[in-house]
Amino acid sequence: MSKNNSLLTTRHSLNTMLQNDLLLRALRGEVTERTPVWMMRQAGRYLPEYRVLREKYSFFERCQTPELACEITLQPVDIVGVDAAILFSDILVVPQAMGLEVQLIESKGPVLPDPIKTANDLNRVRVPDVNETLGYVFDAIRLIKQELNGRVPLIGFAGAPWTLLCYMVQGKGSKTFDEAKAFCYTEPELAHQLLQMITDTTIAYLKEQVKAGADTVQIFDSWGGLLGPDDFENLSLRYIRQIVTALKDTVPTIIFAKGAWHSLDNMAATGAQGLGIDWCIKPQMARQLAGNKVTLQGNFDPAKLLSPIPVIKKEVTAMLDAFGPGHHIANLGHGILPHVPVDHARAFVDTVKEYRHKI
Ligand code: CP3
Repeated sequence: MSKNNSLLTTRHSLNTMLQNDLLLRALRGEVTERTPVWMMRQAGRYLPEYRVLREKYSFFERCQTPELACEITLQPVDIVGVDAAILFSDILVVPQAMGLEVQLIESKGPVLPDPIKTANDLNRVRVPDVNETLGYVFDAIRLIKQELNGRVPLIGFAGAPWTLLCYMVQGKGSKTFDEAKAFCYTEPELAHQLLQMITDTTIAYLKEQVKAGADTVQIFDSWGGLLGPDDFENLSLRYIRQIVTALKDTVPTIIFAKGAWHSLDNMAATGAQGLGIDWCIKPQMARQLAGNKVTLQGNFDPAKLLSPIPVIKKEVTAMLDAFGPGHHIANLGHGILPHVPVDHARAFVDTVKEYRHKI
């Protein structure tokens, strides 16, 4: 047995202690009795229980206090009944650990007041010791695993290097991330230096998340779809590939590169076990592009959770029919919106749980 296989087997026997391992079995390509379901950004403002903690503590207090992060992570498991927990944190804790100030401003979103614009700015950025700077995340993971007590698997995550560069250079959210792109196109060497530093930090960060107990990890490339296919390969996928390769002997990885459907074939070739897709591509077409081995995750339009419940049920059923049996994790095509009623989120989850494929 190769080293790779024996490590996966050890992990496998640990996972058998999970009462619900549908998500992990789906990622391994096994046929499951029903499709597993979770929602991106499932711990958040649509939950009244989250809003209570939001009144009392700042965003980074909630991320950095393991007891709070744990309580928030468990909320959607208890309230909505999803088949996986996802660590409550944010992709921007990595730029923070690398030395940049990150603020989260109500109604404005994330702001990085001193973004990277020049070679000089790059000197302020370092590849940190992740245990020193992000130890609170690993403490939270250990606590969450203990509190979950095997009910469902725990998903760890990080932002893709390209998406993190977008924020680190633009300094705030944007529809186009034009300043981030301008930096990459005018200062390619600096851009690649920064992308490599983010990649090295992310590899160390995700490896520690796995050591602390994460059962799988997702890489969020929310802005991957802003790049054409060649730029996506050059500025994003080559760094994601390094991350997937570094984790291949540990837990399954999921790549979610929103809008980058044109590169599903290349994403599948990284060896990642799961690929997230948004609602702008038909499941059948995504399957054709990605091939038959990988598990697809998605792809319900998050705004459709604002429809009346009977419409949600009908549309979720149509989505499950379109994906067909096996190799599918039901999810939204992007994060849940803050004004979605909780019973609509529950209708999404329940419809998946009640559905059975005719095989
Ligand atoms: O999925 C989960 O439930 C886990 C928690 C999670 C958060 N952010 C918590 C959060 C995850 C996985 C993220 C990832 C994240 N963060 C991404 C990638 C996924 C995506 O949605 O595209 C991005 C681009 C960010 C950066 C970020 N963080 C933005 C743009 C914002 C502001 C927009 C918003 O939703 O308010 C945040 C803040 C943030 N991260 C909140 C939460 C629950 C809202 C904070 C609050 O107001 O309480």
